[in-house]
Amino acid sequence: MLIAVLVVLAIYFFWVRNPLIFVTYQDLGAKELEETDYIRAVNAHSECFDPDKRKYLNQYLREIKYPQTSEPFSQMLKERVERYIEKSRIEKLKTFRNTESVTLVKKNETVIGLYNCHIDNEVTNGSVMIFNVCVVQKERGQGFGKQIIKHAIERCSQNDKDLTLTVYRENRTAIDLYTNLGFQIVPVTKQPEDEFFMFQKHLMKLQQGG
Ligand SMILES: CC(C)(COP(=O)(O)OP(=O)(O)OC[C@H]1O[C@@H](n2cnc3c(N)ncnc32)[C@H](O)[C@@H]1OP(=O)(O)O)[C@@H](O)C(=O)NCCC(=O)NCCS
Repeated sequence: MLIAVLVVLAIYFFWVRNPLIFVTYQDLGAKELEETDYIRAVNAHSECFDPDKRKYLNQYLREIKYPQTSEPFSQMLKERVERYIEKSRIEKLKTFRNTESVTLVKKNETVIGLYNCHIDNEVTNGSVMIFNVCVVQKERGQGFGKQIIKHAIERCSQNDKDLTLTVYRENRTAIDLYTNLGFQIVPVTKQPEDEFFMFQKHLMKLQQGG
């Protein structure tokens, strides 16, 4: 009887209350990664990021780069954006944004989210950057995003290196989530055009060590 109760409690605490499993791979082309997980991860990424990428790219091209656009040209710009998004999707299928590792998040054996991290030299000169924090739409609002970021903070931390990430300025949910876990918006000192200008992002930092 006691054993049965313990088993039920164990299932409740480890599976019902905390049903996520985190598996880290070297990249999305890793040999041990199952094809279905690979496809789900890439699809999850597209679902999480393509709509904003499309929106900001269109906005940038129409309002800033070519403000006097006539209708035929505007159609060309639209096609250009779609080509860009498709190209970046194909690149993602090979590696995962030059990542050194990607963590897939599974619930009931299905990939429902992901994140990855690597040392960043382009923007921050040596912080560890957390990228691609994503929960598929139908699983949002259940606390999984918060669990994923906590996991990322733990796994990505390296000695005293700061943790950084970029986030769309209009993405209040994500900004609040990161702020509640100790990240702060910081000024950008190096400005790769796409991240901060074209895509309207903030840089956020979680200071580690002294
Ligand atoms: C940002 C994201 C990861 C959050 O995932 P999630 O599983 O919905 O997050 P959680 O359920 O853990 O919620 C986190 C917090 O946001 C709040 N929240 C969640 N959805 C919300 C919504 N639609 N509106 C307002 N607040 C919301 C929750 O109440 C929670 O706050 P709390 O910790 O004070 O309770 C998810 O929305 C996502 O993948 N978005 C698309 C990709 C993206 O923007 N990634 C971040 C890029 S840097």
